[in-house]
Amino acid sequence: MQWKQVLSTMQPYKPGRSSEEVKQAYHLTNVVKLASNENPYGCASTVAEFLSSTSMPFEIYPDGHGTTLRAKLAEKHGVEESSILFGNGSDEIISIISRALLDEKVHTIMPSPSFPQYAHNAKIEGADITEILLKNEHHDLNDFIEAINERTAIIWVCNPNNPTGSLIPTAELESFLERVPENILVVLDEAYFEYVTDSDHVDSIGLIDRFPNVLVLRTFSKAYGLASFRIGYAVGSSDIITELNKVRNPFNTNTLAVAVATKALEDDAFIDMCRELNEEQRKRYSSFANEKGIHMYDSETNFVLMEVPGDADEASEYLLQHGYIIRSGNALGTPGYVRITIGTEEQNTGLLQAFTLLLQEKGR
Ligand SMILES: Cc1ncc(COP(=O)(O)O)c(C=O)c1O
Repeated sequence: MQWKQVLSTMQPYKPGRSSEEVKQAYHLTNVVKLASNENPYGCASTVAEFLSSTSMPFEIYPDGHGTTLRAKLAEKHGVEESSILFGNGSDEIISIISRALLDEKVHTIMPSPSFPQYAHNAKIEGADITEILLKNEHHDLNDFIEAINERTAIIWVCNPNNPTGSLIPTAELESFLERVPENILVVLDEAYFEYVTDSDHVDSIGLIDRFPNVLVLRTFSKAYGLASFRIGYAVGSSDIITELNKVRNPFNTNTLAVAVATKALEDDAFIDMCRELNEEQRKRYSSFANEKGIHMYDSETNFVLMEVPGDADEASEYLLQHGYIIRSGNALGTPGYVRITIGTEEQNTGLLQAFTLLLQEKGR
């Protein structure tokens, strides 16, 4: 086979361990998964009721245009319907963008550490990659500007950033966008937008008119609690969306996903509740970190990146044995830290107890 050469340097995505697997391996009756930034409150009860009472023509291909969802989202965001692109999760949109713009002749800029799919897709397309290290825990957008060259096609900005949870101040973001040449696509990946509570933060979809080279990514996988349906979307100028639609597979989102996402948009109260509960619980993590004298990144998301004593893989293993699946920073480019999804009050109480035991074990 004549595989792309770069594949010999890559590995297939390795999913974290499932709760069932961990239960069996460690003889546990209860395992809590706080590893993938899913919503611990599930989805809105209105969505769950809708799902159990609805029937659909499963033998028919989905509406590839996502008509109902498109109309609702266009209204919600005050944009034209032609400004929206749907993906099988925002993961798929990242690969559509990469496929449409990247090849061996072009260059792309992204933060590091950050969401790994930007680099993963860019590698497959053979693009030249510049990774910009975080400075003082944040994206330094001046460094992004300095990295631009005549071949730069895409700049990826993860805001808030995964795995650190940090948010770019709005004024900094706007000043950056003013300096990026118009022929470079700026992708603002905002998977955790619904969790942001910083009052300075503006809805960046409102920036698209001023900066037509901006494409905003959002997802139903996080605050909406619909990760298993695989649906996300991009909002941008209709010219950009038209080009991306040429690359998109015709039936990339399914009937059920479009229907439940449409339903979920009717329940803003659920999202508000999740944001508030998440913020309350996030404060518990920062108080804990302060009290124990361990470092935690400021987070505007539903996860925290917390320092651990010793090796992060060992700390993750210890927490796993106590029934908590979290992510080791070793796999995320943040050695010495673990990323913990903020769970329910009860889940966090248990996690923090196990974390306390870990600190004691290490004499901290
Ligand atoms: C920053 C970021 N972007 C995109 C995604 C992908 O989300 P989706 O489930 O919509 O594919 C994730 C998922 O963890 C994420 O953290």
